[in-house]
Amino acid sequence: MSEIENFHKQNEVDIAKMGEDADLAQHSKEWIRMTTPHRYSYHFSWMGRPIIQFPQDILAMQELVWKIQPQAIVETGVAHGGSAVLYASLLELLGGDRKVVAVDISIRPHNRVAIESHPMSRRIDLVEGSSTESATVAQVFEKVGSRAPVIVALDSNHSHEHVLKELELYSPLVKRGSYLVVFDTIIDDMPDAFFADRPWKRGNSPRTAVDQFLEHNTRFVRDESIDAKLQLSVAPGGYLKCIGD
Ligand SMILES: C[S@@+](CC[C@H](N)C(=O)[O-])C[C@H]1O[C@@H](n2cnc3c(N)ncnc32)[C@H](O)[C@@H]1O
Repeated sequence: MSEIENFHKQNEVDIAKMGEDADLAQHSKEWIRMTTPHRYSYHFSWMGRPIIQFPQDILAMQELVWKIQPQAIVETGVAHGGSAVLYASLLELLGGDRKVVAVDISIRPHNRVAIESHPMSRRIDLVEGSSTESATVAQVFEKVGSRAPVIVALDSNHSHEHVLKELELYSPLVKRGSYLVVFDTIIDDMPDAFFADRPWKRGNSPRTAVDQFLEHNTRFVRDESIDAKLQLSVAPGGYLKCIGD
């Protein structure tokens, strides 16, 4: 085995062991619980645009983009555009005709101006509309066209019903070997009081939607090695790998 193969093998062993460390898992959840009231995930930016993510998830997405080399990334939930710009910048480095198709029910004018005047804008197609409306879905599929592979990232309305619909509607874009990432599954591990002004909470969350989706969809499995590696993530159990046709 070469030195680099040994390095990767050792990482696999270490990560698997870390994934079994219940004490660490509990401390990681506790750390997330303590930072959430400080709005920790709102404090970062990517190439100047606010990105509402944990740095660990940003790194995990970079690793997936490099591994999959997608021709398109579909994102639901744009907000200020930081994650769309992140994905676009990674696709820019990969070159070719790759693009991000980014959907939001409401793209505020100042966000649209900032995204459309950003150096990465030529890689981003914005679609305004609810991600589960048939007209929106049709636009996304039309913009993706025959591009493959595709990564899908769901980060819009976090209620069970909405995420489950998104999973059903967008999962066909993801083919064997690629990923469908469901953000904010962490809601199910947090106190209900954190989301008092939102429809979602424990039991009505992206996590419960993923659970129900995986009950009947055998094309996807959770890639738990990513959860084990990150520890600090808003998407535990949300990194779904496509293993079927
Ligand atoms: C958590 S923010 C997205 C954060 C962004 N992905 C990032 O990392 O910076 C959620 C976004 O979802 C949008 N949203 C809410 N309901 C939606 C729906 N039904 N369809 C599409 N977007 C929706 C909101 O307008 C909001 O901008």
